[in-house]
Amino acid sequence: MAPRTLVIGGCGFIGSHVVDHLRARGAAVRVLDRRPEAFRPPLEGVEYVFGDFSDTSLIYEALEGVDAVFHGASTTVPATSNLDPVADITGNLIATVRLLEILRNKPVRKLVYLSSGGTVYGIPKTERVHEDHPQNPINSYGIVKTAIEKYIYMEQELHGLQPVILRASNPYGPRQGHTGIQGIIGTYLWKLHRQELIEVWGDGCVVRDYIYVKDLAGLCVEALMQPATGCFNAGSGTGHSVNDIVRVALETTGCETQAIYKSGRAYDVPRIVLDIERARAAFGWHPRMSLEAGLAETWSWVQSQR
Ligand SMILES: NC(=O)c1ccc[n+]([C@@H]2O[C@H](COP(=O)([O-])OP(=O)(O)OC[C@H]3O[C@@H](n4cnc5c(N)ncnc54)[C@H](O)[C@@H]3O)[C@@H](O)[C@H]2O)c1
Repeated sequence: MAPRTLVIGGCGFIGSHVVDHLRARGAAVRVLDRRPEAFRPPLEGVEYVFGDFSDTSLIYEALEGVDAVFHGASTTVPATSNLDPVADITGNLIATVRLLEILRNKPVRKLVYLSSGGTVYGIPKTERVHEDHPQNPINSYGIVKTAIEKYIYMEQELHGLQPVILRASNPYGPRQGHTGIQGIIGTYLWKLHRQELIEVWGDGCVVRDYIYVKDLAGLCVEALMQPATGCFNAGSGTGHSVNDIVRVALETTGCETQAIYKSGRAYDVPRIVLDIERARAAFGWHPRMSLEAGLAETWSWVQSQR
């Protein structure tokens, strides 16, 4: 039977797709978020609890009657986390450790946590990054994610939690915010929609592993429903350069413009592509969407927005 699931951060980009996939599988869903969804009205049949997940009384309330927890909330993104590491530690690490302590005395065993395949390894030493690659993050966001992973492991070893840590690569797709600080594909498509110029930091050779958000959400739900536990990379397993993204974005939108190249950013690792064989084997999952088809679907969604 589908677990009654608390989705922390369920009004966010990835969380909202996890909510959709859970509902499609017949699960009862409660969302804990500090704000409503940005791109659609509240969903019928979904219970919403609004507030901060660092508020322990709210966590107790939100956990009532729940079998499983998906944690997809973060108060920071890689690009800004170094500006205030103490706030990163307080808002994410301390709040999550408190959540873990509360879970010890609750019937919830399954926790799926969204970590970051793009930051926890630091600068990759291999072409394709396996889960056993050393973790030497070079920003506060990655350090906090790594620390949270370790606390989750401690709960598994000492208190019987059955966690799945998903180290997501670079998700993109409908409902991604377009602030320009995270998510290059969404940023480009929104800019092109507004007939603005698109910018490339560096020479465009930086390679990332882009995963369509619905493929990622599908993996999150398999992780919630299946018995496997542990740490898994969650990407497409394929690398694309920023120049590839520019090309596909221009082809998809039919816009006749050129990207502006600016100087590179120190915190961008040159290349990261994840090895996703462990997730394939454990969950019988595989990413389905090609970059071209995913961009086309995202572009349709962007155009449907006012
Ligand atoms: N988007 C990416 O590129 C990416 C890549 C790897 C990992 N991740 C991780 O996946 C998770 C989801 O990312 P996203 O892109 O969907 O982000 P998002 O900002 O779109 O969604 C996060 C949601 O969490 C909520 N939230 C944040 N802090 C909260 C708090 N203190 N209390 C209650 N709600 C809070 C936000 O309101 C938002 O709705 C995060 O943990 C993020 O670190 C994201």
